[in-house]
Amino acid sequence: MTPSPDSLPPSHIGIIMDGNGRWATSKGLPRTAGHKEGLEAAKRIVAAASDAGVRTLSLYAFSTENWRRAEDEVSFLMGLICTHLRNQYDFYRERGLRVVHSGDLDGLPAKVRREIARVEKDTSEFTGMTVNLLINYGGRDEIIRAITAHRDALGPETPITEESLSNYLDAPQVPDMDLMIRTGGEMRLSNFHLWRAAYAEFYFSDAYWPDWNEKDFKKALTFFHSRQRRFGGVPK
Ligand code: FPP
Repeated sequence: MTPSPDSLPPSHIGIIMDGNGRWATSKGLPRTAGHKEGLEAAKRIVAAASDAGVRTLSLYAFSTENWRRAEDEVSFLMGLICTHLRNQYDFYRERGLRVVHSGDLDGLPAKVRREIARVEKDTSEFTGMTVNLLINYGGRDEIIRAITAHRDALGPETPITEESLSNYLDAPQVPDMDLMIRTGGEMRLSNFHLWRAAYAEFYFSDAYWPDWNEKDFKKALTFFHSRQRRFGGVPK
């Protein structure tokens, strides 16, 4: 039986994985311990999303504003991301996951750039869910870089349309976001996927990201299925 469109999983889910620092502090641990646990939660939810038939999962791992944090936290996060990408190829291969990156590569340390390039290449033929890792990503920055690239490629006289600009966004194959999840109790977008969030449904969870599990993820899917999406139109 063909599933009805209402029971299909969201095609593209984006997650703001918030609350790592508070999770650690609440346990008397250094903030970095929260990021380490946060990576374990990310792997849990990647597996759950892939099992649920989601086509693209965007994870906001490091924003253009996160450089404002203490130097040791920033370098811990860069190291964590680097080591993960270097050592976890099997995690992606076993599930046929394709990894892509969004964000400004130029602002990243060379070792992180190298690991991103390698994992993108090594997983490029996989046909399962796409994992879009947002590292040194800012929504405004992405739009400015896209406009600049559009102008450089097509000339300043070529009109910019929504469709033409979409080709110059980071990871252009990633579609509009259907569901945006933010953990950690805050209710804001924090420069996440500004362009692709235009018609996303927003789901907020009070739980800290390291505590998130498959059950929480299922609740978010149930919320999504309860929404009537109109895209600015009128319900039939
Ligand atoms: C926000 O919580 C979290 C981050 C800035 C980092 C998130 C990164 C990871 C979980 C690693 C994921 C890596 C991959 C490759 C998927 P916060 O520290 O701002 O929390 P707080 O609001 O409690 O301080």
